[in-house]
Amino acid sequence: MNVLVLMGSPRLHGNTAELCKPMMEEMTARGAQVRYVTLADKAIAPCRGCYACQDVQGEYGCVQCDDMHAIVGDVIWSDLIVLATPIYSWYCAAPMKNLLDRHYGLNKYYGSAEGSLWAGRRVAILATHGYEGDYATGPFETGMRRLCEHSGLIYAGLYSVQDEDNLASFQTLEAVSGAKAFAAGLLAQS
Ligand SMILES: Cc1cc2nc3c(=O)[nH]c(=O)nc-3n(C[C@H](O)[C@H](O)[C@H](O)COP(=O)(O)O)c2cc1C
Repeated sequence: MNVLVLMGSPRLHGNTAELCKPMMEEMTARGAQVRYVTLADKAIAPCRGCYACQDVQGEYGCVQCDDMHAIVGDVIWSDLIVLATPIYSWYCAAPMKNLLDRHYGLNKYYGSAEGSLWAGRRVAILATHGYEGDYATGPFETGMRRLCEHSGLIYAGLYSVQDEDNLASFQTLEAVSGAKAFAAGLLAQS
């Protein structure tokens, strides 16, 4: 299975990156091909809402020339996309929000082009957050469930850990074994 981990924290070596490690270790140990892409160090401009992509058949078609085109190649390669993000203001952090808005060219719903470049992929969430559990992650998870419905993707679930003590919170046996069990469950679903 091809797994694309999109890591959206502005902190490239922060809590969310730390929690990705055991998840990816387990995926690799179970034979998955894993690509890890950090977003904060990439050029991903906000969507301009120009709809030009909606008239380009069979290709992403975004007129903005930035790193999103390479990431779209990774998305198309993948069977499973893991959105790894800290919760910022009850949603994902800004680098991931830009990426999510730029999904438009993958769905040809609003112009002369037709079809989808990514339907059928599975999407999971790995989140870290300051508030407790579902209170922190609920709005983002709801958004991603709806994006999956809208885009013909399969929502595959969420694993999250609360930030109580910075990096140490994500290095506990509970956090590490939870991330590994999440990885195993995602691979078993395929
Ligand atoms: C600007 C900012 C906004 C945040 N907003 C929330 C929030 O809405 N809900 C929450 O539970 N935690 C919030 N947090 C806490 C982070 O989600 C948490 O510390 C996370 O583990 C940081 O991960 P990182 O080190 O990968 O960036 C916020 C932190 C920052 C810096």
